[in-house]
Amino acid sequence: MTVHPTTSPFLAELFGLEGKVAVVTGAGSGIGHGIARFFAEAGASVAIADRNPSAAERVADELNAHADRATWIETDVSAEPDVTRMLRHTLERFGRVDILVNDAGIFPAKLIAHMSLADWERVQDVNLRGAFLCLREAALQMRGQGTGGRIINISSVDSLHPSMPGLAHYDASKGGMNMLTRSAALEFGPDKITVNAVLPGLIATEGVAAMNRGAGPPPTEEFNKRIVLGRIGTPEDIAACVLYLASNAANWVTGQTFVVDGGYLIG
Ligand SMILES: NC(=O)c1ccc[n+]([C@@H]2O[C@H](COP(=O)([O-])OP(=O)(O)OC[C@H]3O[C@@H](n4cnc5c(N)ncnc54)[C@H](O)[C@@H]3O)[C@@H](O)[C@H]2O)c1
Repeated sequence: MTVHPTTSPFLAELFGLEGKVAVVTGAGSGIGHGIARFFAEAGASVAIADRNPSAAERVADELNAHADRATWIETDVSAEPDVTRMLRHTLERFGRVDILVNDAGIFPAKLIAHMSLADWERVQDVNLRGAFLCLREAALQMRGQGTGGRIINISSVDSLHPSMPGLAHYDASKGGMNMLTRSAALEFGPDKITVNAVLPGLIATEGVAAMNRGAGPPPTEEFNKRIVLGRIGTPEDIAACVLYLASNAANWVTGQTFVVDGGYLIG
């Protein structure tokens, strides 16, 4: 990563994150990694929270190679003590929290007919309970700081329309995340804390590659043909929308769900 500070004061004020502190869960890989890179480029200090410590450390090292702005912490977002530790670590390192991105998520494909209760619950625990725990912890910290804040939940187009069989648990968790977004926006609006969700379409990530190697049905040619802009997305396509929502440009935007899918849902 190369850091390119903008020379335009107007753009720096509108889209820059200089002096801000962000926590990005699931930032050891894929979309979260892309978001952490964009935040560091925009001038933020970034805490990389991931269940996989070596991946988190690798991303923090990558960001720190150009500016000493990153820290990492092993975190399972579904475990309340881990989430408390994640916030405490960020505060010890950077002194405040201005932005939270709930990106950590899992999507192990399994048809309902073969789905155990444990399969169902693990997906809810990581995707929905994890987002709730991190959101509550971060929002209360932001409320205490008294200077507002930004929370961005990484949901999915699957929260609006199931893309394939085998993701009922996942689709339900992301639908829940959309309503968590709206409800939290209502409750924390008076604190000037905005809460929004980004709904990615199919993005080329390590997680999707692993799913395609696994037991679940891979996205078919037919599925890919529905992407009207003609290509699968990249983590950067999502990070650009997340950066907007974290920036001053989105000061008056809350409780919204932003589809970023190359036109998949209209295809
Ligand atoms: N890739 C896509 O096509 C796509 C589409 C829509 C939504 N999403 C969402 O984007 C997010 C990121 O997906 P991705 O494709 O980058 O996945 P990925 O598997 O490449 O990365 C996810 C990261 O989250 C971490 N993680 C998993 N469980 C965790 C936990 N309990 N606590 C902390 N960290 C945990 C993993 O270690 C990994 O580093 C997920 O919430 C996913 O549902 C992805």
